[in-house]
Amino acid sequence: MVARRNRIYPILLLIILIVAISGAYSQQSGRNKNGREACSRVVLKNGKTKLRSGGRVVKFNCNREYVLVGESTSTCLLGEWTSEPPVCATKGCPSIPPPPSGRFIASNGGAVMRLECNPGYRPSHSPMIYCVDRFDWNGTAPICQASGVQQSATRCDFESDDLCGWVQDTRTDEFDWTWQNYGTPSLHLGTGPSFDHTLGQGKAGHYLFIESSSPRILNDTARLFSPVYGAPESSTIADEGVCFTFWFHMYGSTTGPAAIE
Ligand SMILES: *[C@@H]1O[C@H](CO)[C@@H](O)[C@H](O)[C@H]1NC(C)=O
Ligand SMILES: *[C@@H]1O[C@H](CO)[C@@H](O)[C@H](O)[C@H]1NC(C)=O
Repeated sequence: MVARRNRIYPILLLIILIVAISGAYSQQSGRNKNGREACSRVVLKNGKTKLRSGGRVVKFNCNREYVLVGESTSTCLLGEWTSEPPVCATKGCPSIPPPPSGRFIASNGGAVMRLECNPGYRPSHSPMIYCVDRFDWNGTAPICQASGVQQSATRCDFESDDLCGWVQDTRTDEFDWTWQNYGTPSLHLGTGPSFDHTLGQGKAGHYLFIESSSPRILNDTARLFSPVYGAPESSTIADEGVCFTFWFHMYGSTTGPAAIE
């Protein structure tokens, strides 16, 4: 009796030890049933997740009245999901007033807004904002902040083609300003200017111009963004203000009125 008991105990102990060790090992390496590294659990606000293929694939579905923004499935690869979980967004959040130096672009029927900032500005935080409940955006709307004041020339005669840091709008307008010298192309006789203001008649001074005749139509826009200027060095009072002076010339039958923003 005694001898038999003594033999059973070491065997039992060995089995317990093996079970304990294998348990610790599988915990440490985070393996799932199939011996692959498991990924962290994902939850989807205003939606559901469904695991497929033994937990290797997660499928996302949004509740009614919510649209899925992002990838609808993700795969577990070496312990990491291959894509970020999507967002379930809906319509009905309060409209966001247009911010200075940028604009919001709506998508997914107004459930998602993306802030686009003018050159020289960047969003204060994530440019994306999602309507996650009927009346709630998922955070405060970002604004456009100057991404650092550039040391740009405060005087510009457009003699060099870097335009002193002024840049064409490549996204929200219909056409661009043309950098050139001497007169406007002979193709458009009877329009102006015929020379540059800085250097005068007969000289090769440069200027920027827009052609308003065909193919341009009423309300076509050509926008130039200025550099972001800091307060002038001579300024002692923060809100003293600055003055912007420029020369312009409008000549021809299709010029229409000038508007400056
Ligand atoms: C809103 O959600 C998106 C996606 O999860 C995230 O990238 C963004 O930072 C969130 N915005 C705020 C302000 O928390
Ligand atoms: C041009 O813009 C003005 C002012 O925004 C607007 O009243 C007018 O209807 C527009 N015309 C055309 C042809 O788009």
